[in-house]
Amino acid sequence: MSPVRKILVTSALPYANAPLHLGHILEYTQTDIWTRFQKISGNDCYYVCADDAHGTAIMLRADEQGISPEEHIKKMQASHEADFSDFLIDVDHFHSTHADENKELVELIYKRLVDRGHIAQRTIVQSFDSKKKIFLADRYIKGRCPKCKASDQYGDNCESCGATYQATELINPISVLSGTTPITKESLHYFFKLSEFTDFLRSWASDRHLQTEVSNKLQEWLINDLKDWDISRDAPYFGFKIPGTSDKYFYVWLDAPIGYMASFKALCKKRGINFDAFWSADSTAELYHFIGKDIVNFHALFWPAILKSTGFRTPTEIAVHGFVTINGSKMSKSRGTFINARSYLEHLNPEYLRYYYASKLSRSIDDIDLNLDDFVQKVNSDLVGKVVNIASRCAKFVTHGNAGILSATIHNSELLEKVAGVSDKIAGLYEKRNFSGAVRLIMAEADSINEYIAASEPWKLNKDKEKKQEVQDICSLGINLFRILMIYLKPILPKTARASEVFLNDELNWSGITQPLTNHRIETFFPMIRRIDKKSIKSMLSANNDNVNKSLTMKNKDEVNRVAIEEVTIEEFRKMDLRIAKIVKAEAVEGSTKLVKLTLDIGTETRQVFSGIKSRYLPEQLEGRLTLLIANIAPRKMRFGTSHGMVLAASSKNGIYLLEPDIGAAAGQRVT
Ligand code: MSP
Ligand code: ZN
Repeated sequence: MSPVRKILVTSALPYANAPLHLGHILEYTQTDIWTRFQKISGNDCYYVCADDAHGTAIMLRADEQGISPEEHIKKMQASHEADFSDFLIDVDHFHSTHADENKELVELIYKRLVDRGHIAQRTIVQSFDSKKKIFLADRYIKGRCPKCKASDQYGDNCESCGATYQATELINPISVLSGTTPITKESLHYFFKLSEFTDFLRSWASDRHLQTEVSNKLQEWLINDLKDWDISRDAPYFGFKIPGTSDKYFYVWLDAPIGYMASFKALCKKRGINFDAFWSADSTAELYHFIGKDIVNFHALFWPAILKSTGFRTPTEIAVHGFVTINGSKMSKSRGTFINARSYLEHLNPEYLRYYYASKLSRSIDDIDLNLDDFVQKVNSDLVGKVVNIASRCAKFVTHGNAGILSATIHNSELLEKVAGVSDKIAGLYEKRNFSGAVRLIMAEADSINEYIAASEPWKLNKDKEKKQEVQDICSLGINLFRILMIYLKPILPKTARASEVFLNDELNWSGITQPLTNHRIETFFPMIRRIDKKSIKSMLSANNDNVNKSLTMKNKDEVNRVAIEEVTIEEFRKMDLRIAKIVKAEAVEGSTKLVKLTLDIGTETRQVFSGIKSRYLPEQLEGRLTLLIANIAPRKMRFGTSHGMVLAASSKNGIYLLEPDIGAAAGQRVT
C-alpha cells in the first residue's frame, strides 16, 4: 500500500453576482471527480470552495436591487450551494470571502507584507465619476478608440482594432454608471512589490507546478520584469478595509485566493483538522488549485509570490482548464448560448453532464464544446447502451435461475483479469486529470464485456437444461465485470454508483477490484440511469432562454428572489411541533377545487386538517400514507371547517408533492 497522501483541493471561487452557468460546472465537475478519486483511493483529501463576495460589481448589483451587499451575497451563496449539491459536487466546505476567518487571514498576510517591506505606497491618477462619487475601473468607462476611432469601446482595449491603452486616453469618454464625463483624480494606492519576485516566479512557474502549455505561456510573460501589483481600492467599495486607513479597501483579488485558506480554516474548526499541517512553509501536504485559463496570472504569479513572501507554502499544482462553448459558440446571453446551471438541473440528470464533461477533459487547455447532439448520443450509447446494459442482460438470469446468488466460480478468469488489470492505468489517468483517457479505456473494456456476453449467448444456452450452470457462470461474471466498470466510473457517476451498490449489495471501492463477488446475493435489477430523452433538451433550452432573456431585462431579479429565504435560529425551529401523521381518511371538499379534508392519526390523538393538494391526488391515493404535520400551528377557520395543523408538501410549477418520511417512521413521532 502506498502511504496516505494529505491533499487539499480548491476550485476558483464563483463571483457572488450571478447564478452559476454550465461553464462553472465544468470546473466544479473536474475538481469533484479528481477529489472523489483521491478519496476512494484512500487518501486524506479535502475539497473547499467559497463565494467570492467582494468588489465593485457586487456592490453595484446589490444597489440595483435596493438591498445591502450582505443581503445580496447571502442569496447568491444559497443559490450557488444548491447548484453544487444538485450537480453532486461533494465539496467539504463552502465558505464566503466575506467572513471573519478571511478578514483575519487577510490582515495577517497584509501585516507580514508591510513588516517585511513588500508594500509600496504611490499616488496614481484615475478616472472618477463625480456624479456617483466613485473611481471607475476600466470596464465602467466607454469611449472612442484613440487609435482607430471606433466608438463604444471599453476603457482598456479596443475590440475593433485590438489596441490597448489607458482609460484616460479614450476620446469622449463617458461613465457607464452615470453617463457623465469622468474627470481624472489622484489617489494614494498600496502596491505589492511583485517585481521583486520575478526571479522566484521564473523558477516556480516550471512544468512541475503547471501544465507545459501554461508554463510556456508564463515564461513568455516573465521575459520582462513584472510590474508591482495594486492591491488597494478607494471607497465606496465592498470589501475589507485596509488597517490604518479610513477609506482604502483591499482589492477583491487580494482577498479572494486567501479565501481558499479561510474556507479550509472553517473546515478545520468543524472537523478538528490541523490547519498548519497544510499551509506552513514546510508542509508535506499537497495543494491543488483548479481554475479556468482566464485567471492564470492571479494564481500562478500573484498568489505564489504572496504565499512565498508571507511564510506560507506554495501550491503543488495549478490545474488549468479551457472554456466551455455550446454547440461551437462562446456562451453568450444575447446569442442564446448561455445555459444556467439551474435550467439544466430542472430538465436533465446531472450525471449526464458529468459524464460528458469527463469524456472531454484532459490536461489540455483547449476549449471544451458541449455539442448537444453529441451529448445525447454519447451518454445514451455509453452509459445506457454499454454499461448498464451489461447488468440488465445478466441480472435476470441470476435472479430467476439462482435466486439472485452469483456463482461460486469465475467463468472466464482471463477476461476478469483483463478488465481488472487496467485499474492501475485508469488510476494513473485520473491522477493526471486525463479523464477522457480514463473514459476511453473504461468504454473499451465495456465493449469487450459486451462482446463476451454476445458471443456466449446465455439466452440461447438457457433453453438447454444441461447448460443452466454455464448460464449462471456467464451471467455472474457479467455482473462482476459490470461491478468493476462501476468502480472505475464511481468518481464520475456517484449516484449511479450508489444505485449499483444497492443492486450489488456491495460497497464499491478501488480495493475491491481484485476481489470478485462469488456466492453473493444481488438484488433484482433496476435501471440505475436512463436514456436522455431528446425532448428534455428542447424544453431545457426553451425554459433557459426565457429565463436568460428575462434576466437580461430584469437584471436577474427573479433568480435572486427564488433563493430569498430568511434565516431562523435553532430555537425558533424547535418551537415547531413537527410530527409524523398517518392519513386515516381523506375526503374531497365539495365546492373547493384545491382542498382535501384529512383525518390524521398523530399517535396521541386524531386531527382534522385541510390541505390544498386536491389538484394532484385523488383522496383514496392518500389514505394509509404517512406525512409530516406542523401540529402546533394556530388553528385556521375556513369556509368548510377548521384546520388543526398543516401538512407539508413541496411545490413547483409542475405540481404539488406531499412529503413522506422514510420507511421506519411511525405516526406520532416527533421530527427533530
Ligand atoms: N471570482 C473569480 C475567481 C476567484 S478565485 C480566488 C472568478 N469567478 S468566476 O465566477 O468568473 O469564474 C469562476 C471559475 O469559473 C473560473 O475558474 C473561470 O475560469 C470558470 N469559468 C467561467 N466561465 C467559464 C466557461 N465558460 N467555461 C469554463 N470555465 C469557466 O473568476
Ligand atoms: Zn481601435
